[in-house]
Amino acid sequence: MADINSGHTVFLETFGCQMNVLDSELVLGDLRAAGYAPAHRPDHADVILINTCSVRQRAEAKVLSRLGELKWLKQRRPELIIGVMGCMAERDAEGILEQAPHVDVICGPGELGRIRQLIEQARGNGKAAVAVTRDQMRRVPVARRATNDGLEALDRSRRPAREGPLIQAYIRVQRGCDKFCSYCVVPFVRGPERSRPPAHIVDEAKRLADAGTVEITLLGQTVNSYAYEQDGRIIRLPALLERVHEIDGVRRLRFVTSFPGDFDEAILHAMRDLPKVCEYLHLPVQSGSDRILRSMRRGGTVGQYDELIDRARDIVPGLTLAGDFIVGFPGETEGDFQATCDLVRRTRYKNIFVFKYSPRPGTLAARKIADDVPMVVKRRRNHELLAIQSEISSDQNAALVGSLVEVLVEGYSKAAIKAQKMNQSQPTHLGWRSQTQLTGRTRGDQIVVFEGSPDLIGQLATIEVISTTDLTLHGRLAEAV
Ligand code: 5AD
Ligand code: SF4
Repeated sequence: MADINSGHTVFLETFGCQMNVLDSELVLGDLRAAGYAPAHRPDHADVILINTCSVRQRAEAKVLSRLGELKWLKQRRPELIIGVMGCMAERDAEGILEQAPHVDVICGPGELGRIRQLIEQARGNGKAAVAVTRDQMRRVPVARRATNDGLEALDRSRRPAREGPLIQAYIRVQRGCDKFCSYCVVPFVRGPERSRPPAHIVDEAKRLADAGTVEITLLGQTVNSYAYEQDGRIIRLPALLERVHEIDGVRRLRFVTSFPGDFDEAILHAMRDLPKVCEYLHLPVQSGSDRILRSMRRGGTVGQYDELIDRARDIVPGLTLAGDFIVGFPGETEGDFQATCDLVRRTRYKNIFVFKYSPRPGTLAARKIADDVPMVVKRRRNHELLAIQSEISSDQNAALVGSLVEVLVEGYSKAAIKAQKMNQSQPTHLGWRSQTQLTGRTRGDQIVVFEGSPDLIGQLATIEVISTTDLTLHGRLAEAV
C-alpha cells in the first residue's frame, strides 16, 4: 500500500482487557509504519481512535460519553477522523453511528488489519467506513481453524516500540472464544476460538527478546485450550511453553487467562519443570454456587474447581492464584453469594477481580433471565467479597516480611512518577543521588516497591520484603540477579 498518510498524527485511547492493549499496540505500530506520528492529546491529533470494550454496560457507556466529548472537536475540525475499534464496534456499529453520527470509522477486532484502509476510505468520501466480521467457523474442529490472514499479518507486522524496548510484552496465541458462558459477550464480538501457528508465536517472541523484552505473557481468552494442528499432530499449550522457554533473553513466561473446565494436568507439569514459567495462574471461577455455575453455563462444578486448585498447588509449589467473580448474577440468593464468599476464603487467592453482573444484549442470560438482583445488593456483595479478599491478601503478604523475592523491575513507582511530574525534573531522588523509588513484580505477580538505581529497570533483582499492605510489598534491594 502506498505511504498515504505521511504527516498525520494519531491519538489512541484503550479501554478494556490485555487483548485490547495488545491490539492497540499493533494498530499504532501499523499506523506508524504508514507515517503517522503518535499524538499525546486528542486535540493534537488528526486521527482519534478509541479501542473499546463490551464486557459490561458501563464500559460501553464510557465510550459513548467520550465520543460525546469529541463531537465539538469534530465540529471545529471537520477533517478530523474519529474511529471506534474493538468489541463495541463489532457488537453495535449501528448503535454507535446513531448515537454518535460524527464517527468516521468503525472497525471490529477481526478487521483491524484493515484500519489504515478504512481511515483512508472515510477521509476520501466523507462517509463512515464500517468493517465488522460475522465469522462463521464454529463447525470446524478448533485445532484446524485457519487464522484470518489480514489479522495474522497485523500480528506478524509487529515492530519494536520506538520509545524503547517493552520489558514485558503480550503475545496473542489465540483469538476468540467458544465457551459461550451465558453472561458473556466475548464469543459474539471476538468470534470463534482460533489458535495461532506456533512458529509465528515463537518468531514473535524471539524478535521481542532480541529487542530487549524480558517477560512474555501468552494471551488467550481460554489460553489453556490452545491447540494447533500441524503435520497430523496437535500442539498444545505445554509444547508451546517449551518452545518459547528455549528463547535466550526471555527470562519469565506467563499465560492468561485459563478456563477451569479444560485444564490439562500437563500444563501444571510444564509450570513445575520449566523454570522461566512463573508460578501464577489466573483461573476465574465466577461463582462458588453450583446452581449459579449451571445457569452461567460454565460447564463445571465448584467441587471440580476445588480439586483443580488442590492439584495445581500440589504440583506447582509456591503457586499464586488470581480469580474473577460476578456478583448479582440473575437468581443469586444470599446463600449462593455466601457460597462464593466461602470459596474465596478457602482458595486464598493472591487477588480477585469482582464484577457486578451486567446484562449484555444477545447473550443467553440477557435473553432468558431477568436481571433481578438490585444494584444496592450487587454493590454490597461486591464490597463484601473484596473485603474478605483484602484481609486474606494482607495476611499472606505480611507472612512474606523478612523473605527474599525475585522481582522484575518494571519502572518508576507511581509516587516517583507523580513527584517527577510535579518537579518537572529528572526522576525523583528520594534518598541519595541516583536512587529513586522503583516498582516491579514477583514471579507470583505481587507488586513490589523499593528504592534503587534506575539502571535496574528491565533487570531481575532480589528484594528483601520489609513491610506490606494488602496490595503491595515494600522492600529493600538485596542484590541484582
Ligand atoms: N457482567 C459482569 N461481569 C462480566 N464478565 C464477563 N461478562 C460479564 C458480565 N456480563 C467478567 C467475568 C470475566 C471478566 C473478564 O469479566 O468475570 O472473567
Ligand atoms: Fe466469556 Fe466464558 Fe469465553 Fe471467558 S470463557 S471469554 S467468560 S465466554
